[in-house]
Amino acid sequence: MEIQSLPEHELARLREKAKEIVGNQEDYGDVYSGLLSRRLNHEPLQYIEEYIPFYSIQINVDSRALIPRPETEYLVELIKEQCSNPQKILDVGTGSGCIGLMLKKLFPDSNVDAVDISYEALSLANENSVINNLEINLYHSDLLENVTSTDFDLIVANLPYIPTSTLSSLDKEVIEFEPLMALDGGTDGMLYINKLITQIEDKNFENTTLFLEVDVSHAHQILSRLSTWSEVKLVKDLVERDRYIIAKK
Ligand SMILES: C[S@@+](CC[C@H](N)C(=O)[O-])C[C@H]1O[C@@H](n2cnc3c(N)ncnc32)[C@H](O)[C@@H]1O
Repeated sequence: MEIQSLPEHELARLREKAKEIVGNQEDYGDVYSGLLSRRLNHEPLQYIEEYIPFYSIQINVDSRALIPRPETEYLVELIKEQCSNPQKILDVGTGSGCIGLMLKKLFPDSNVDAVDISYEALSLANENSVINNLEINLYHSDLLENVTSTDFDLIVANLPYIPTSTLSSLDKEVIEFEPLMALDGGTDGMLYINKLITQIEDKNFENTTLFLEVDVSHAHQILSRLSTWSEVKLVKDLVERDRYIIAKK
């Protein structure tokens, strides 16, 4: 990437980060050059800055987990609008911990479990729990395999949904830096979402509301998969794309 292709606001953010690292306003040139070369090598700006705001908390980000997206902040907003006082919450595929931690902040009396198959992601989520002073139960699990309770009021998941064959067409920023485990959704992109729905059915969860963030192209197939569930809803994001599914078991 050429420096001319970077917008001025990105350069300004890199300068600010360099000043933050050096701790003064003047001698930051060498550090700035280092940060700039990382960005020119396609490293996402958020990994270089090391943290992002997510809803109303701060989330540290690095290559251990996916960078939380604005669409996921909207998923949290949807949950806030639709759930009055959930007591037990489960965040499946927690990554940086953004969803589970933010829900704990919104519903301080709730008990939040957050699982991931990636130990690296769990270590980052744990750091985010500490810096935000929000206590949640983080543990390793392949989807619901190690989850023993079946009385969650709310299960939320933003699982990998990119079909394996299209991974190579992703931007370098994504495919070369974000963890493959957070992106690869198997042959049709729906491997993990389908598995999760099957596990919830097999474990006989009751009175649980499931909130999913999904790819637009999968939304209708997932709705059909949930046809025996109740109160199934498709919700659009802020730019009118079919991005969220809510369903009750
Ligand atoms: C798309 S990322 C979402 C991360 C975070 N929830 C967010 O919204 O930013 C998907 C996450 O699911 C995790 N994951 C992938 N396969 C999994 C599995 N079989 N069981 C549990 N977590 C899984 C990945 O490690 C990754 O952290």
